[in-house]
Amino acid sequence: MPKRYLLEPTSPFVDFLTEEPIVAVTAYDYPSGRICDEAGVDVVLVGDSLGMVVAGLPDTTEVTIEMMCHHTRMAARGVREALVIGDLSADSYNTPDEALSNASSLIEAGAHAVKLEGGLGQIAKVEALIRSGIPVCGHLGMLPQRVKEEGGYKKKGKTDDEAAKLQAAALALEKAGVFAIVLESVTAATASALTDALHVPTIGIGSGIGCGGQIRVLHDLVGGYPWFVPPFAISYANVADDTRNAIHSYRRKVQDGDKT
Ligand code: KIV
Repeated sequence: MPKRYLLEPTSPFVDFLTEEPIVAVTAYDYPSGRICDEAGVDVVLVGDSLGMVVAGLPDTTEVTIEMMCHHTRMAARGVREALVIGDLSADSYNTPDEALSNASSLIEAGAHAVKLEGGLGQIAKVEALIRSGIPVCGHLGMLPQRVKEEGGYKKKGKTDDEAAKLQAAALALEKAGVFAIVLESVTAATASALTDALHVPTIGIGSGIGCGGQIRVLHDLVGGYPWFVPPFAISYANVADDTRNAIHSYRRKVQDGDKT
């Protein structure tokens, strides 16, 4: 049974989301933003996953706010209908003032809202952004920006203690005014319980089907980054192989002397 959301009038979802599951996909440039929008997604996230799937970095920790603004500008240009969320990159929101300045840059680049990672330590920043009229999406569970401290990509919410901490963080973020919370790599049972406990929607990735919606990295969905595929990813296409095959065909044609 889909959940009916009790959205604040200021929620960026209020115009188009009532009870359907939220469909969210990442995009990083004009063609991917436009294709996601034309395919009818509710949310285009310009995620800092671009550090890995676009920039070839080992993780998201070295992504800068300049990179995020550059890609947000390109992706937003392709989007007509969907809500565009821009990720605040690691190290770009150490204080409420820094969060506000960098979130304003993402909004200026075309995002309608911003996302940041973490719970209780981020409340003052979330409140500062919302006071300034910038809608904020939270992000709990596995926090890729802290992958080094955490020693890898680990499932969250496995123990009662972890589940209780996640719930306290989620409720505090909701109280601070976030309009949605991404749950990354949270056990399905804990993600469902969090979804039930909140009035704002949860958007899951690797967190089971009990969330208020799902988000996926575009490259995982279309098989565009075959060198690292998360265990929960399902690819509906094989863009890497198709591209490689197209280039092989072109190369063979040119080498065979066909100049058409
Ligand atoms: O950066 C990103 O793509 C994300 C999603 C994995 C939720 O934060």
